[in-house]
Amino acid sequence: MLLVTGATGKVGRHVVRGLVGQGVPLRALSRRPDRARLPAGVEVAAGSPEDTASVAAALADVDRAFVVLVGDVEAQARGFAAAARSATGLRHVVLLSSSAACHPVPHRIRDEHIAAEGIIRAAVPSTAVLRPGPFHSNSLWWAGQIKETGRARCLVGDNPGAPVDPADVAAVGVAALSPEHGGRVHELTGPEVLTSGKQVAMLGGLLGRPLDFEVATEEEAVATFTAITGDRPTAEGNVRALHSPEVPWNRVLPTVAEVLGRPARPYLSWATEHIGAFR
Ligand SMILES: NC(=O)c1ccc[n+]([C@@H]2O[C@H](COP(=O)([O-])OP(=O)(O)OC[C@H]3O[C@@H](n4cnc5c(N)ncnc54)[C@H](OP(=O)(O)O)[C@@H]3O)[C@@H](O)[C@H]2O)c1
Repeated sequence: MLLVTGATGKVGRHVVRGLVGQGVPLRALSRRPDRARLPAGVEVAAGSPEDTASVAAALADVDRAFVVLVGDVEAQARGFAAAARSATGLRHVVLLSSSAACHPVPHRIRDEHIAAEGIIRAAVPSTAVLRPGPFHSNSLWWAGQIKETGRARCLVGDNPGAPVDPADVAAVGVAALSPEHGGRVHELTGPEVLTSGKQVAMLGGLLGRPLDFEVATEEEAVATFTAITGDRPTAEGNVRALHSPEVPWNRVLPTVAEVLGRPARPYLSWATEHIGAFR
């Protein structure tokens, strides 16, 4: 039996689909099993990684796990690890981390993922770590603005980066569930370096109308993120790092192609499949 946390999310749903396709017996952990909408045959257990008791119950008869940590990443890592340490059968974990862990500028997103990697590795030595850069699906942040105003206002600067398809992150994750990936770190990007402005232009091309593109100031980005989290110092550090040209995802890495034996999916493929969300 294999456990997937974050199974209802952007990466987790693809992981579930991939494993169901392989006929792997699967259990998903969800805070709201009644809303999970997972494929028939997938067991859904109620819970969340930070809730050790729920993870412990969900790990019964489980030998491998795909772990996604969302929200308080470090608290979730601690909660999962406490259950993993006392689970008798768990042999191998794939952890969805972030290439923020490689960022030269210290900030909360980096620090929490580095901490989470250490916590999970200490509990399950055979852990494979995925460190993707920004997902193609982050463009959905602009969907409402594009629909209503024909304009996208970008909060993370307009530095070059090589965004990756969450479906590719999941596919590498499914491959990394083989125990020979234990101890490995897969840093993942997409196949081309773009800017947010270029992504918006591609969306406009698919919509058949030009879209305006604006870059918000760092102060506006800090204010927006502070309004969501209430934590201004963390927002300041994260925005400084995200606006830095030193972001580690500013170059194309061959990892997706090396692990999967096929090229990484370009942004245009994702955008074509999801253009309805921007219409
Ligand atoms: N977005 C990016 O560009 C990017 C890039 C690199 C790394 N990452 C990392 O990837 C991970 C997120 O993966 P994802 O985008 O696939 O996840 P997601 O879609 O945001 O969420 C996955 C699932 O987690 C549960 N969840 C959501 N918010 C939660 C909260 N506050 N507390 C507890 N559970 C919550 C929900 O499942 P239920 O409701 O079913 O419980 C949700 O469907 C994060 O660790 C992030 O740092 C993201």
